Amino acid sequence: MENERLVDATIKDEQEISLRPQTIAEYIGQSMAKENLKIYLQAATLRGEALDHVLLYGPPGLGKTTLAYVIANEMKANIKVVTGPAIEKTGDLAAILASLNAGDVLFIDEIHRLPKVVEEVLYSAMEDYTLNVVIGKDVQARSIRIDLPPFTLVGATTRVGSISSPLRDRFGIILKLEFYDIPEICQIIRRTSKVFETTIAEDAIKELGARSRGTPRIANRLFRRIRDFATIKNKGIIDNEITKYSLEALKVDPLGLDKLDYSYLETLIKRFQGGPVGIEAISSALQEESATLEDVCEPFLLQIGFINRTNRGRVATQKAFEHLKIDYLNSFFQS
Ligand SMILES: Nc1ncnc2c1ncn2[C@@H]1O[C@H](COP(=O)(O)OP(=O)(O)OP(=O)(O)O)[C@@H](O)[C@H]1O
Ligand SMILES: [Mg+2]
Repeated sequence: MENERLVDATIKDEQEISLRPQTIAEYIGQSMAKENLKIYLQAATLRGEALDHVLLYGPPGLGKTTLAYVIANEMKANIKVVTGPAIEKTGDLAAILASLNAGDVLFIDEIHRLPKVVEEVLYSAMEDYTLNVVIGKDVQARSIRIDLPPFTLVGATTRVGSISSPLRDRFGIILKLEFYDIPEICQIIRRTSKVFETTIAEDAIKELGARSRGTPRIANRLFRRIRDFATIKNKGIIDNEITKYSLEALKVDPLGLDKLDYSYLETLIKRFQGGPVGIEAISSALQEESATLEDVCEPFLLQIGFINRTNRGRVATQKAFEHLKIDYLNSFFQS
């Protein structure tokens, strides 16, 4: 199995930073999350307070990190960026918290991977802006309390189910990012073409939009690959023909599915009669880590209604059978 998938939204791209929208007005789509967030931002600004803590969750590449920066920018605040697994000791977190100024945004990416002991230090920091640290050992151990300035914690995760409820409950604002619909993805592609100063035909935008799995990161990555094909094979002109040609060459199908998605679906359908079957069985049949399948393949296959998750395992739907041109086995297994 290839390691680097073109439509793998978990792989971050260098060029992404220049493509990030800076303001909420520039941030395309996610209207549900955005409308509420706008109110909270305005209210906090009017009151001159720090924004309440925000938890952002959703599949990779949909714009969580981007939105964290937008929040800091809209609050005219400084942002400090760390990732959950990088904060190994309580002292590491204490040092980060102690360095914050009033109103700062602390962005903790992959917050579900924060070590448990570190997470517990975060509770009082979030709740009443205090830091409780234990100094010394055994009989000499004593707890000291440090007041922190008001700050906003923005946490991001692709796995909201892995977040403990005490931590989740301390976020006043919880926003779920959804896959983008095709018109929204097309808007993002138009914006990307402006930033790159590269023209792309309107029908090519639609073709690319349909194959981007509702994910800006993938749309932007495919855009760059198509631009390469256009440079070499089409005098730099990105029309519908070169777009289709490129995506065909890149083995991205009209729905945005690639080889791994096909292997996943074929295994589920041919080897396990369409399910239900546990993710571990699919994972060992494919020799792919189950976490990869859960983070990379399944969210989009669920979104387009190709699979269902039941308490007995994964089930392929009739739509998936049809897409793979396999007769639908409506067996009694698949209730
Ligand atoms: N709403 C948006 N409008 C325009 N571009 C966007 C939007 N959301 C994301 N993007 C683009 O997609 C890229 C990926 O987004 P981002 O890094 O914020 O995703 P993420 O949700 O943090 O992913 P991960 O879970 O892997 O950390 C950004 O660099 C940006 O170019
Ligand atoms: Mg991110």
